[in-house]
Amino acid sequence: MSSKLKILFFTGAGISAESGLKTFRDAKDGLWNNYEIEDVCTPEGWRKNPVLVLDFYNQRRKQCLEALPNKAHQIIAELESKYNVTVVTQNVDNLHERAGSTNIIHLHGELMKSRSTKDETLIYPIIDDIKLGDVCEKESQLRPHIVWFGEQLEDKNINQAVKAAMECNLCVIIGSSLQVYPANQIPSYVHPKSKVVVIDPLDLEVDLDEDHSIHFMKCSAVDGMEEIHRVLKEMEI
Ligand code: APR
Repeated sequence: MSSKLKILFFTGAGISAESGLKTFRDAKDGLWNNYEIEDVCTPEGWRKNPVLVLDFYNQRRKQCLEALPNKAHQIIAELESKYNVTVVTQNVDNLHERAGSTNIIHLHGELMKSRSTKDETLIYPIIDDIKLGDVCEKESQLRPHIVWFGEQLEDKNINQAVKAAMECNLCVIIGSSLQVYPANQIPSYVHPKSKVVVIDPLDLEVDLDEDHSIHFMKCSAVDGMEEIHRVLKEMEI
């Protein structure tokens, strides 16, 4: 039985902001200020205009490949050498992977994968564009391997994320507005005796069911993770 401290990093778009990737709801230029969710992130939008949807994700895939993991991603990856680390992310970019993290649960899918529209178990790695006419081995159109609004998250991912939350000694929530269900329920499974830290430049409303002691760090992901790294080293836990 590992006696290593169990740390859960629950991340959202904000952790990739310092890598130059847009968040969704940032007041200034969040993705949802420039696109209608219905048009590019729902099955209805896909049925209505698949080319618009493919283009939306092709652009984000290119931006993802041009971006680099930032110090926050890197510290999380480095902490795996000392702690039992799980990353539960709402992000579809691959910056946690490219920083070196190895235990990652993507709740909302992955930009670098495509999927059959006939058989959702047929998933393919991808780095280029998905175009209309690109088909799977069963001859059906390929789509982005993303969980759209109105679609179910994979049970396996939710169950693993809940388990990680229930078992962790420390949960660090980084860069998420916690507005999207059911992903936003994961932190509420953290044991009341475990520590919860929230890293966000904004004052976030975080209401967990139990009376958790939540420590807020009003700063960027990089500043927050550098501070956490320093404290963990100082406490030699
Ligand atoms: N460091 C840390 N946090 C930041 C930074 C930064 N540099 N910049 C912005 N943030 C914070 C914002 O203040 C906000 O609280 O990141 C959060 C981003 O929130 P959202 O844009 O709502 O992103 P997220 O919570 O990941 O969205 C969840 O919504 O549209 C769906 O599927 C999409 O996975 C996404 C889900």
